[in-house]
Amino acid sequence: MDREVFSQDAPVSWKELLAETARLLKGDNSELEAKWMIEEVSGLEYPEDYQEQAKPIQLKRLKGMIERRVTGEPLQYVLGRWQFRELDLFVDDRVLIPRPETEILVDYALDECKSKKDDLDATRSINVADLGCGSGAIGLSIVRETQNVSVWCTDISEGAISVTRANLAGLGMAGQRVSISQGSWFEALPVEMLEKFDIVISNPPYIGDSEELPIEVSDWEPLSSLRSGPLGTEDLSFLLNNSIDWLSADGQLILELAPMQADAMVKEAESLNYREIQVRHDLAGRERVLIARKPL
Ligand SMILES: C[S@@+](CC[C@H](N)C(=O)[O-])C[C@H]1O[C@@H](n2cnc3c(N)ncnc32)[C@H](O)[C@@H]1O
Repeated sequence: MDREVFSQDAPVSWKELLAETARLLKGDNSELEAKWMIEEVSGLEYPEDYQEQAKPIQLKRLKGMIERRVTGEPLQYVLGRWQFRELDLFVDDRVLIPRPETEILVDYALDECKSKKDDLDATRSINVADLGCGSGAIGLSIVRETQNVSVWCTDISEGAISVTRANLAGLGMAGQRVSISQGSWFEALPVEMLEKFDIVISNPPYIGDSEELPIEVSDWEPLSSLRSGPLGTEDLSFLLNNSIDWLSADGQLILELAPMQADAMVKEAESLNYREIQVRHDLAGRERVLIARKPL
């Protein structure tokens, strides 16, 4: 790190910095990660512009990012942003890094919104609750990709609520259809919304206390986003049991889960008399989403 390239006095081009950053990062993805860091710090999109020289303040920022990354901090936190569907989300260590498998939940919610749109009169918008919103990935994507949907984003974590609020700014006018509140699951919602949600959607914590996690996850991401309790299914069960009161007559519950939890959660949904219970797969073909319609 104390190589001349990073000395703040010597002029250095982005091209040289790209090579040096990749060298310092090491690892399989080092070239790609170096490119993303350079893009983030330089604001340059095209490699042909990499002949330009970096300013001292940019050098300092890049050096700081490399130092963080080589200690094992996830790239997403180091960059301070991550792509989720159409959104470029601000992320830091107060929130779970949005995962690609979660993107599919939004597709199922959008399908349901489309089919609801034809049934509802034009004067009322579709209501969605995104419980445990984290960065806002699910709820803000639904708002971004629809015209007539209002979303309540809630989370127990004050830090997560701040991050969702920061990401709301990126939605422009569509952001007017978003409400954000802090609290444990349904406690964050106003009682006027009882039986009014067309969709309750959540990617809750679903990892058991004794399940091992990769170090890059356990050392950096908030454990309160990941761990649910000894079984791992505690939050899923809570949401299954309590969504009934908040769903509209034909409302739908959409939950992300781990593949090994699917059978047990289907049984629990059946015992609660949910209708049209389905388990859907993620892009890797694993059982990942439980969808169920409110009991009659
Ligand atoms: C797996 S993360 C999902 C974050 C985001 N929805 C996503 O998909 O990237 C679970 C989220 O649930 C929140 N959470 C945990 N316990 C909660 C509770 N009792 N009430 C509300 N939110 C909770 C965590 O703070 C975390 O943001």
